[in-house]
Amino acid sequence: MLEKRLLACFSLSRRFLVKYQRRKFSVAINEKETIDVCGKKYQRDEWTNVTPKILSHVGRNLHLQEKHPLGLLKNRIVNHFYSQYIGRTGNPIFSVFDRLSPVVTVEQNFDSLLIPKNHISRLKSDCYYIDSGHLLRAHTTAHQVELIKSGIDSYLTVGDVYRRDEIDSSHYPVFHQLDAARLYSKHEIYKQEDISGINLFENGDETAEKQEVHTLDTALFLQAELKACLEKLARNLFGEDAEIRWVESVFPFTHPSFELEVLYNGNWLELLGCGVMKQEILANCGITDKVGWAFGIGLERLAMRLYQIPDIRLFWSQDTGFLNQFRKATPTSPVTYKTISVFPQCTNDMSFWLPESTAFSPNDFYDLVRQVGGDVIEQVTLIDEFNHPKTKLTSHCYRIVYRHMQKTLTKTEVNRVHEDIGSEATRLLGVKLRVV
Ligand code: PHE
Repeated sequence: MLEKRLLACFSLSRRFLVKYQRRKFSVAINEKETIDVCGKKYQRDEWTNVTPKILSHVGRNLHLQEKHPLGLLKNRIVNHFYSQYIGRTGNPIFSVFDRLSPVVTVEQNFDSLLIPKNHISRLKSDCYYIDSGHLLRAHTTAHQVELIKSGIDSYLTVGDVYRRDEIDSSHYPVFHQLDAARLYSKHEIYKQEDISGINLFENGDETAEKQEVHTLDTALFLQAELKACLEKLARNLFGEDAEIRWVESVFPFTHPSFELEVLYNGNWLELLGCGVMKQEILANCGITDKVGWAFGIGLERLAMRLYQIPDIRLFWSQDTGFLNQFRKATPTSPVTYKTISVFPQCTNDMSFWLPESTAFSPNDFYDLVRQVGGDVIEQVTLIDEFNHPKTKLTSHCYRIVYRHMQKTLTKTEVNRVHEDIGSEATRLLGVKLRVV
């Protein structure tokens, strides 16, 4: 009898399981038909190749986190531009756009920048397409036309960019770029009163130095302004006597184009791409009386050099062993990253009443923890303080993060050290442990 009932129960649960699985399956199919990115739904098509893993990076916005190395570096560059380029009204010349959606159209990412239809950078094997008309931006230059069309003459854009790539210590399919552009009108270039006889444009030939529609003077002016601006930035980042060199380059949206390299620890490091903006792009924005330059910098590679971060994957780490090293930094402080262990952290809290009669400083406890725990102590922080209204006693709660450089610590090992710390704190500092 019991057996029968068990059997019925089993078959019922089996039926339920089948039904449930079928339901799950239909959800899965549904998920396959549309994708949700930044709150918008897109219909999958033959171009879709974005993966859930990649999409999980959208919205992390590392560049907006003030104490993240990428946020620090971004602010360092932004502050440099704010302080160096002030307009007649006393306001910074460059406006910053750091919250533009990483979902862009094929038109924004490629067409608007005159990137040919058969250009390799458009390949499905190189980009993350959401559908045939949208992709996760492959460069922040994708916003150039929309910003200029909206009437902005000088801007900095910062954001996450996505390119299909292998993953190793220096390549990751998501990274961050800072792009900039600056436009000039004739009287910004020629400061004298009478500029009526001067022309920014001519109907000439394209040469290595200039576009066909620019006069040589216009092209040389823009090139000199661009190079001076970027050399100043490089010296701000790498020091006054940084060794830098210009290398000619090619981009479909600038001419002439250059790359700036910096000598760093004996190697030439490619810092950025830049050039004189193609006049055709400005014409497409409805601008006929201005000329300009643009550049784009990758932030990770730069941050890796500045903070000595050995692996690009660390930027995505949520591990406090990584993040806390930048917690107290300002955009200009020289932080040198210290390698953390690859083994997992183990966190344990300790609360105690402070001694009544003797002075107590958290630093006494920090020293004691390191003394007792040695190298397995990664961090100690005071996370809570409480004053008892009646007894007038103060209680502190500390979070201790344990981690071994060569192995995974077991809970028992951690507990043993934690208990030792507790009894030594009781004995030497006169605290009274609280049971949590
Ligand atoms: N978008 C280019 C890149 O990703 C950099 C660049 C920006 C070059 C603007 C010229 C002008 O490499």
